[in-house]
Amino acid sequence: MSAVVVQDLVKRYGTLSAIDGIDFEVASGTCFGSLGPNGAGKTTLIRILTGLVKPTSGKAIVAGWDVSKKPDAVRGAIGVVSQAMTTDLDLSGRENLDIYARYYSVPSKERRERIAYLLDRVELSDRAKDLVATYSGGMRRRLEIARGLIHKPKILFLDEPTIGLDPQSRRTVWDLLHQFLQDEHLTIFLTTHYMDEADFLCDRIAIIDRGKIKIMDSPALLKESIPGDDIVEIVTVARQDGMVNPPLAEVVAELSAHNFVEQIIQKEEGPYTEGDATESHHLQVYVSNAAEAIPVLMSSLQKQSLKVQSIGLKQCSLEDVFIHYTGRSIRAEEGHKVNFFIGAGVPRRMGG
Ligand SMILES: Nc1ncnc2c1ncn2[C@@H]1O[C@H](COP(=O)(O)OP(=O)(O)O)[C@@H](O)[C@H]1O
Ligand SMILES: [Mg+2]
Repeated sequence: MSAVVVQDLVKRYGTLSAIDGIDFEVASGTCFGSLGPNGAGKTTLIRILTGLVKPTSGKAIVAGWDVSKKPDAVRGAIGVVSQAMTTDLDLSGRENLDIYARYYSVPSKERRERIAYLLDRVELSDRAKDLVATYSGGMRRRLEIARGLIHKPKILFLDEPTIGLDPQSRRTVWDLLHQFLQDEHLTIFLTTHYMDEADFLCDRIAIIDRGKIKIMDSPALLKESIPGDDIVEIVTVARQDGMVNPPLAEVVAELSAHNFVEQIIQKEEGPYTEGDATESHHLQVYVSNAAEAIPVLMSSLQKQSLKVQSIGLKQCSLEDVFIHYTGRSIRAEEGHKVNFFIGAGVPRRMGG
């Protein structure tokens, strides 16, 4: 059975389509991630699914109920951890959980047991009596996850669960969610703009950009779906000998003449350690066989008298998947444009 079914969902704010006609299903007992940059529509989507915002059109079925028709039934079956921290600073950790348990009418004996169990699971038992105001960000987030699970929901929704946390706290939250997924017969729906988070936690990922799903698959298949088996990363820098490097178009033409080259992407940011950025290039060359390609690419670059700062083999990451399907980098706030040179046509898995 599907925990979530979304059909042709649209949410407009005036002329802006925050959600622009999306369809997907989330299988029960799995972790589904909506991955996208700022403004992609992730929070809007989670708000629709949790009954906080009405869609303009389309359908969302959550835990078997239509969110628009049975919002109360949906609310009873789900837990929500919103992007902003919402636990009460003036109450202790235990009191925060107790209020929620009462709100969901958890009977008193069960309430005590559930609170003790969850505090233990999120490693806050020894801080349960302390005011949340004294908690670190990571502790507060863990308490919010416990709070979201207080009434044994079928589905837990989390909007950017580790935003703003230090790397170690992020890792703790991941491990926690991973464990809960296994132990609580839970379905998890999360949004994130962190590639590594989606990669670690999610069974399936929908890459979302400007309100649309660009592609949806398991992390492994997403990585397989982009052209080239290997990515050779080349960074060239301005020459020190008074000569100028050949223009980018010439470099690209030379490199793409090799038949093992499937696609070349120019990244806008460095890493340049020397010289003038306008004369420096950061290229990712997607090739079928890096071991064969690297020496040939090196001699091409030498033939053009390019000053190469580095050339190396890069593992395909979800970042590369994201760039391939959206033409933008997720890291930059506004999304840096990247230039595709060859093979940037219809992605293999979408073109069908
Ligand atoms: N209440 C609102 N009124 C008008 N525009 C909104 C509202 N909520 C979100 N938006 C717009 O919808 C788009 C998607 O926003 P959001 O869902 O918050 O994205 P994300 O969570 O992926 O960063 C953005 O352009 C945002 O400005
Ligand atoms: Mg958001």
